[in-house]
Amino acid sequence: MTAESDATGVALEAALGSVRIGVLTVDLDGYVRSSSPGLDRMFEAPVVVGTHVTELAPEEDADRIASVLSALADEGTDPDSLKRLRFGARKASGRTFPVMVNVERIEGSDLSVAVVRDLSQLLEAQDRALSAERRSQSVLVQLVQGLSTAVEFRDPYTAGHQHRVADIALAIADTLGWDDESGMWQGLFLGCLIHDIGKLYVPSSILNRPGRLSGLEMGLIREHPVTGYQTIEHVDFGVPVAAVVRQHHERLDGSGYPDHLSGGEVQPCVRIAAVADVLEAMTSHRPYRPAKPVDAALAELVAGRGSRYDGEAVDAVVLLLDGAAPASAEALLPLIPAQAGQDYAAQGPFADRNRDAVPEPRARQEQPQQPTSTDYGP
Ligand SMILES: [Fe+2]
Repeated sequence: MTAESDATGVALEAALGSVRIGVLTVDLDGYVRSSSPGLDRMFEAPVVVGTHVTELAPEEDADRIASVLSALADEGTDPDSLKRLRFGARKASGRTFPVMVNVERIEGSDLSVAVVRDLSQLLEAQDRALSAERRSQSVLVQLVQGLSTAVEFRDPYTAGHQHRVADIALAIADTLGWDDESGMWQGLFLGCLIHDIGKLYVPSSILNRPGRLSGLEMGLIREHPVTGYQTIEHVDFGVPVAAVVRQHHERLDGSGYPDHLSGGEVQPCVRIAAVADVLEAMTSHRPYRPAKPVDAALAELVAGRGSRYDGEAVDAVVLLLDGAAPASAEALLPLIPAQAGQDYAAQGPFADRNRDAVPEPRARQEQPQQPTSTDYGP
């Protein structure tokens, strides 16, 4: 070996060592015929010629190793089937670690060469990344819940409204068979939790004033989808939260606001959120109107089925209230204020949070304003 090739070998070995790769040759019976120093470092002891490969692995992998050996002996084996094999490996100390192995029969010989890569650091890094992602997801949800609470502090008449809308929306999505693969579930949940965040910009004297609202006051309240959207539009949720905030008062026939969207312009998450919002809002007291019974809310939804409201979402509500859907009426009804006799502070899933936060509606000084059929929020 020349000095140059020797230096190259040292450099190669150092590189292989740094990426935790080792090489060994084995005969068709599975006995080690040679191994690289990188493999010795990986196993923290010399891998002695004559060792059977099953001694380098935990017992539970013995059968799989035997299958690989017979595949190597079979000339008809597809070489690709012997790449990227995942095994456990066992150090001299007995500690096991994950490896990826590429095995290949050496042409014209009874030997095979196996390139073994230690995956410990890679998998640990993946675990760390995953837990960091979970942590940031959890922080995100907590932040959104904090924002939701901020809205409800300013608008105590709707305390718990956003949480109940979120729960009703998830019950609808569950009934429709949505899964969380696309992140739509999370977008729906987070969007509903802060769908009224724009009310932060509405004077509380308007939000909490009993009686009929003037056109100007109603106009101010009706700006909340846009101001809410402007508040969060630059937050990269990765899921359609901003759409739920901006579009939750849109109706499929174009009669909603603020953008008078219609049909397919209204996103799927929003279609469900809008139905959940109407159901919860109609059955809740507002300073300017009394709560309506569940039947009235249901009648409104069914009347607008397929025109104002998404037909499938309305059908899901009907199924839920009939107790025919997986998320049963038993779970849904306590979320609906009118059904819970307005005592959702004691019955709902947010009982502890709401108990001191939901005031009795003030005595009305004027005739309650009757909202239009498509406006029960606002
Ligand atoms: Fe709203």
